[in-house]
Amino acid sequence: MTVYEPDGSGRNAGPVIALVPAAGRGERLGADAPKAFVPVGGIPMLGLAVGGLMAAGVVDEIIIMVPAQLVEATAALLPPAAPARIVAGGAERTDSVRAGLAYAGAAAHVLVHDAARALTPPDLIARVVAELRAGRPAVVPVLPVVDTVKSVDPAGIVTGTPDRSALRAVQTPQGFAADVLRRAYEHPESATDDAGLVERLGVDVHTIPGDPLAFKITTPLDLRLAEAVLDGKQVAGR
Ligand code: C5P
Repeated sequence: MTVYEPDGSGRNAGPVIALVPAAGRGERLGADAPKAFVPVGGIPMLGLAVGGLMAAGVVDEIIIMVPAQLVEATAALLPPAAPARIVAGGAERTDSVRAGLAYAGAAAHVLVHDAARALTPPDLIARVVAELRAGRPAVVPVLPVVDTVKSVDPAGIVTGTPDRSALRAVQTPQGFAADVLRRAYEHPESATDDAGLVERLGVDVHTIPGDPLAFKITTPLDLRLAEAVLDGKQVAGR
C-alpha cells in the first residue's frame, strides 16, 4: 500500500499534471469532426476544456491526447500560452490515457479530464486538487442519480433494480496520486473511467459533490444544451 507523505505544510506537494483524452470519434454526436474538435459557442470543446483547467489555477501542465492525424493541427485550437503538450491517443479511452501518462513522469498528482466535459467549472477542478493536496489518493466528482436504473440481460429483459440512493453518476476531472494511477495502468483491463481501474487495486476512491455543468457532451441534445449555457453566460456577462 502506498504511503502518502505530506510535506512540511501538511499538504501533499508536487506538480499537478492534467491528462485530457480527446481522441474519441464521438459517433453519438453525429458530427463530421472528432467530438473534442466540435465547436460549442464557436470554440472547440477541447479549447474550452483546456481553458477551464487553466482558469482553475491549480494545474501545472496539460497533456492532450488526440487522434494521431490531428496532433499537428491541435495547438492552434488551444488558448494562447496554454502549458500543453499534444500527443497521439489510442483506440480505446484507456489506451489514450495510458499514452498520456507516459509523458507525465514529473507529476505528483494527475487529473484525468474528458475534453467532452467542456463546461466544467474551474471551481470543481480546484476542489478535486484540494482533496489530492490534503492526502486523498483518488477523488471523483459525483452527482446523485435522478432516474431509476435497471440492469438488463442481452435480450433486454430486466434482471434487477439497484437501490438508487446508493448510486452516483461520475464526472471528471478524476484526480489521483500519480503513483496510484500509474499502478492502475500497469494492468491491461479496459474501463469506462479511470477510478474503475484504481478501485481494482483496492485503493479507496473518495467522492466529492460534482457540478451539473460538468456534464459530458455526448448527443446532439447535449450540444444544444451546451450552446444554450454558453449563450446564457454571454448574456449575463453583458
Ligand atoms: O466515448 P466517451 O464519451 O466515453 O469519451 C470520453 C472522452 O474520452 C472524450 O473526451 C473522448 O475524446 C476521449 N477518448 C479518447 N480516446 C478514445 C476514445 C475516447 O481520448 N479512443
